[in-house]
Amino acid sequence: MRLGVNIDHVATIRNARGGFHPDPIRAAMIAEAAGADLIVAHLREDRRHINEKDISNIIRNINIPLQLEIAPTNYMIKFAIKSKIKKVCIVPEKREELTTEGGLNISYNFNFLKENLLNLFRNDIEVSLFLDPNVENINLSLELGVNAIEFHTGEIANASGSEEMTLIKKFEAVVEYAISKNISIRAGHGLNYEKTKKIINCKNIEEINIGHFIIGESIFYGLSDVIKKMKKIID
Ligand code: PXP
Repeated sequence: MRLGVNIDHVATIRNARGGFHPDPIRAAMIAEAAGADLIVAHLREDRRHINEKDISNIIRNINIPLQLEIAPTNYMIKFAIKSKIKKVCIVPEKREELTTEGGLNISYNFNFLKENLLNLFRNDIEVSLFLDPNVENINLSLELGVNAIEFHTGEIANASGSEEMTLIKKFEAVVEYAISKNISIRAGHGLNYEKTKKIINCKNIEEINIGHFIIGESIFYGLSDVIKKMKKIID
């Protein structure tokens, strides 16, 4: 199981003062040294954290893959191709949201995706879709020729007690269905140490992507130690 470390919120802190510190490139390099399997960054329409220059600098300074999260827009697709990105995750985006609140609406974006995913595939880019965990989304992904899905775990992250148990059971059944269709499954959003332990009980997940918790926790314990602890949990 791979650990993807999302370094967006290092840039959030940097941008709060408009300068250069803390540097997300340095964070990406520390994450790599601490055992992260990939770096994740979301280029948002409003550039509230990572920007284009960060993306090219990160690629130049790390030896692990960078996964770029982008909204389904012409600009972002062109940017991914131009930047020679190897891994793209298509995510929904609303300007007014604090964070990515749910998975992509495939039906709504179907025609755009059909046309533009081909373009990404032709450029040798591995594509995943960030989706709410349900069977309909898996079937639509298959129609699009996508063979990797990242399931949005926000609902599970916010739940507790019997509601959490019910959601995890449903999640596991959906993951099993996806695996039976040869789709590789990743998961992320709102995960901390405890939630990660519960999610990875589901053995078929090949990648976990975590941002906010890792960056927040690193204020107290340091980025390297937090990543090492998370790595130990998923290993
Ligand atoms: N995976 C994807 C596709 C995301 O868009 C995000 C950020 O919303 C994450 C993982 C990480 O979420 P978090 O910052 O809550 O750990």
